[in-house]
Amino acid sequence: MIKQAHIKPSYIEARKRTKEQVKVLTDAYIMNNELSKIGTNKKYYILTYGCQANERDSETISAILEDMSFTKTENMNDADLILLNTCAIRENAHNKVFGMLGRIKHLKESKPNIITCLCGCMAQEEKVVNEIEEKYKWMDVVFGTHNIQNLPKLISDAINDNELIIEVFSKEGDVVENLPVKRESKYKAYVNIMYGCDKFCTYCIVPYTRGKQRSRRKEDILKEVNDLINKGYKEVTLLGQNVNAYGKDLDCGITMDKLLEEVAKTKIERIRFITSHPWDFTDEMIDVIAKYDNIMPYIHLPLQSGSNKILKLMGRRYTKESYLNLAKKIREKIPNVSLTTDIIVGFPNETEEDFEDTLDVVNKCKYDGAFTFIYSPRENTPASKMEDLISLEEKQNRLQKLNELVNKYYLENNKKYIDKIVPVLIENVSSKSDNLYSGYTDTMKLVNVKCNKEDIGKIINVKITEAKTWSLNGEKVNG
Ligand code: 5AD
Ligand code: SF4
Repeated sequence: MIKQAHIKPSYIEARKRTKEQVKVLTDAYIMNNELSKIGTNKKYYILTYGCQANERDSETISAILEDMSFTKTENMNDADLILLNTCAIRENAHNKVFGMLGRIKHLKESKPNIITCLCGCMAQEEKVVNEIEEKYKWMDVVFGTHNIQNLPKLISDAINDNELIIEVFSKEGDVVENLPVKRESKYKAYVNIMYGCDKFCTYCIVPYTRGKQRSRRKEDILKEVNDLINKGYKEVTLLGQNVNAYGKDLDCGITMDKLLEEVAKTKIERIRFITSHPWDFTDEMIDVIAKYDNIMPYIHLPLQSGSNKILKLMGRRYTKESYLNLAKKIREKIPNVSLTTDIIVGFPNETEEDFEDTLDVVNKCKYDGAFTFIYSPRENTPASKMEDLISLEEKQNRLQKLNELVNKYYLENNKKYIDKIVPVLIENVSSKSDNLYSGYTDTMKLVNVKCNKEDIGKIINVKITEAKTWSLNGEKVNG
């Protein structure tokens, strides 16, 4: 058999950034009669790890597979095609995937015809792909984050060829428009506004796995939002690794505040955006968020560390003081804003004093929620080469202490909601009981609500009756 595509990732290529204008490809996705029948009477199973960017990619991958006539199954044992969309951000995400590959190997032994695919951020890592080539040769396809549009051809090749097919592009991708999407929700949608990241924080693998910053054209974003409104969607989440830098790579003068304003004017009921970098969060953005009722008063503002020494080592380009100043401005200008964050403990040589600075920022910002992590060295990033003398035990103690503090404010903030009437987008039956429904406030608080089945997909007024650390309870009120 002729060996099919064999393009492996390269760290050197992944680090490069050129001034070349990114191309917008509108006809890169090819679906023809032959490809559209490949999945007839076959089922696919997709497992998604990681962040919203991956979830959104999986919605496109699912739609492509359904264009090929595959139908979805929630049971891996029933599948003819298994796809793992992976995350590389920390070692534990990586370990989970290799654990899963062990299970899939057993399945493949009993059903040799199943097609097994690995894609997403781990596929962009040289080391991972080398390991798959050496120890997981039985796999069928490895493809990366820049070539999802080629999936039909890759699967077709895999069916005709027993060799492992690898097609991972390391150099920045283009912006590919007109890919299909099968959305998980009928009410809330992810809308990519930009891909990639050029910030190169020293601990982070994303600039290597997702490539150069590439903003989508404003027209394409607005068209997607308007289509969603026509389909009855209530909420959009504008997605990017670093949304505040939106437009900086385009030459038409568009910036994030202007984009937000235009999206607000479409009159979609709710808009939020993730993720922000404190460095380029402008006053104009704060003003736009404050001005429009349909921009949710919810801001996720990753802190990472409260120590100026660590922030510098992380390459974050802001200080504890400038971060606190920004948070204060946000709280002053956006009433009832909900502020959440990401924090890493145990960055190489973080001292007790550095950690105390982080706790100090948490005490001052009183976050509504925080994702907290122990630093995980990622191969080839600058931080992974830094000497680190702090023990894992010490890092775990810090994480626990941080979580206790974060949870204290989580509950304190939630208690402020008691007896208030707030809008909640009802999404589904609550996991607690069949008669309860759950949804989110415009400040992204999870609420279990006593209401009716007919309320699913609607934004209703809810009186909050009880506050817990991670959720609220409430009842529907009329009017
Ligand atoms: N180790 C631990 N946490 C990390 N994050 C990113 N890279 C690492 C790493 N190497 C965290 C950051 C980021 C979030 C998405 O994941 O806090 O904001
Ligand atoms: Fe998302 Fe980053 Fe994980 Fe990739 S590595 S899935 S971009 S969090």
